[in-house]
Amino acid sequence: MAANKTFTMIKPDAVRDGHIGAILNQITENGFRIVAMKMTQLSKASAEKFYGIHKERPFFGELVEFMTSGPIVAAILEKDNAVEDFRKLIGATNPAQAEAGTIRARFAKSIGENAVHGSDSNDNAIIEGNQHFCGFDQF
Ligand code: RTP
Ligand code: MG
Repeated sequence: MAANKTFTMIKPDAVRDGHIGAILNQITENGFRIVAMKMTQLSKASAEKFYGIHKERPFFGELVEFMTSGPIVAAILEKDNAVEDFRKLIGATNPAQAEAGTIRARFAKSIGENAVHGSDSNDNAIIEGNQHFCGFDQF
């Protein structure tokens, strides 16, 4: 069976703070293979679409503003059980509750500026990967 794939972004806070290298290192040391990657900046429309599920939430405006505030690194990662294992590796949404050693515990500042994104299901990995790369399945 082909390895499972997930989609990630290194968010603008972590890029600004110079953590791209350390985060990619932690990702690959934990057995994920980077099969596609690019540095880019999200437009307002792209960030609104990406986080569309949260559009009624009170933090939506702040979330879009933050996600468009600087460059991000988007990548598709491959590993057995990638979606679930990557959510474990990044830790809880709120870094104050993230397990020690997780990416968010190490690099996130707050629940809003939390260093990385990870897809929360196989279906969303496909949708999100296809939003940022041409043909999730080809990687
Ligand atoms: P992500 O989608 O970015 O991987 O984060 P997540 O699954 O851990 O959390 P989710 O519930 O999907 O929320 C998406 C992003 O919205 C911001 N948020 N702010 N101020 C708040 O209470 C709040 N709650 C969520 C976070 O940046 C979160 O990553
Ligand atoms: Mg989420």
